[in-house]
Amino acid sequence: MAGAFATAPLALTACSSGDAEQSAARALRAPRAQSARAAPSLMHDLVRQAVLAPSSHNTQCWRFQIDEKSISIAPDLTRRCPAVDPDDHHLFVSLGCATENLVHAALASGLHADPRFDPSASGGAGVIAVNLTTTQQRITPLFEAIPVRQCTRGDYDDQRISPAELRQLEQAGTGDGVSVRLMTARPAMESVLEYVVAGNTAQMNDAAFVAELKAWIRFSADEALRTGDGLFAGASGNPALPRWLGSRLMGLFFTPKSENERYARQVRNSAGIAVFVSERSDKAHWVEAGRCYERFALQATAMGIRNAFLNQPVEVGAIRPQFAAWMGLKASERPDLVVRFGRGAGMPLSMRRPVQAVIV
Ligand SMILES: Cc1cc2nc3c(=O)[nH]c(=O)nc-3n(C[C@H](O)[C@H](O)[C@H](O)COP(=O)(O)O)c2cc1C
Repeated sequence: MAGAFATAPLALTACSSGDAEQSAARALRAPRAQSARAAPSLMHDLVRQAVLAPSSHNTQCWRFQIDEKSISIAPDLTRRCPAVDPDDHHLFVSLGCATENLVHAALASGLHADPRFDPSASGGAGVIAVNLTTTQQRITPLFEAIPVRQCTRGDYDDQRISPAELRQLEQAGTGDGVSVRLMTARPAMESVLEYVVAGNTAQMNDAAFVAELKAWIRFSADEALRTGDGLFAGASGNPALPRWLGSRLMGLFFTPKSENERYARQVRNSAGIAVFVSERSDKAHWVEAGRCYERFALQATAMGIRNAFLNQPVEVGAIRPQFAAWMGLKASERPDLVVRFGRGAGMPLSMRRPVQAVIV
């Protein structure tokens, strides 16, 4: 789904309101003083920073409850994606990403955040309770990376990353029961690419997957601005178009061949591929995988390194066990996320819904 119809001709005239959408996207990421209207209290501002996290299809599948000394993060099951994510794995990973942002934002405001996942809360749906206690304020590079981080679906510069930087990324991406495997050798990356191509081909021939993806694409800047969610075409380097036209062109240009060629090029101009692996496959580990990925992404951002998902090998149920076997994983382990990384230019920013819309 990464770069939906990325090969559509860029000569097509983009909708004029792209600037309004991008200035709104930038305003969402403004420092606290400038965003006081959007986030009237410190607790609201912590939620604002939490929701700058990535979520699958930019569904923003979270609900926040603010209490005096805690914030809890619950799944918004109305925003599930049953075709691409039938067991809600990505949904809980997304909650983990938001949790990680919250931890760094809290510390920058002099609060120590202690997140605990309770699988039985909210009628068994599972909730992350984040207790907040006073501590020494610390502005970390990871905190400063929150408004800058993005999933960058463009081409990278084909350059290597130093061993010291790789160690920092590996450290950031490792957590409690979750590890990250970094692959920088070309033969290994080519093997991952084969799984990406197989998964992408399966997904693009799956009508339910394509229909769900289409429902989350925001073809025009107006649409992205109005909904505040979903996959804005411009953020994947595509022209912004009215839905009626974008939707028709998607069928013409979004083909397995064109997408697979783009993935091949982008794997080959990346510095490496990271695969996040959970020791066990349950919601608690998926949340932890989200926290590890987000730390990795923030650390990468702080070092000027970009990343984008290549999740097809872990999303397609028939391919995931083959991919896990290729990686030599144990039967109890789950490959959670596949991510390419490298240096390259930024892309337009994605939207978020207003903070008030995600607070219950
Ligand atoms: C669990 C998870 C799975 C994702 N899978 C993909 C993917 O397969 N392809 C892709 O291009 N982006 C993927 N994304 C990225 C989201 O689409 C992205 O986070 C969202 O559009 C918001 O954009 P931003 O991260 O640049 O703020 C995924 C994100 C998460 C958290």
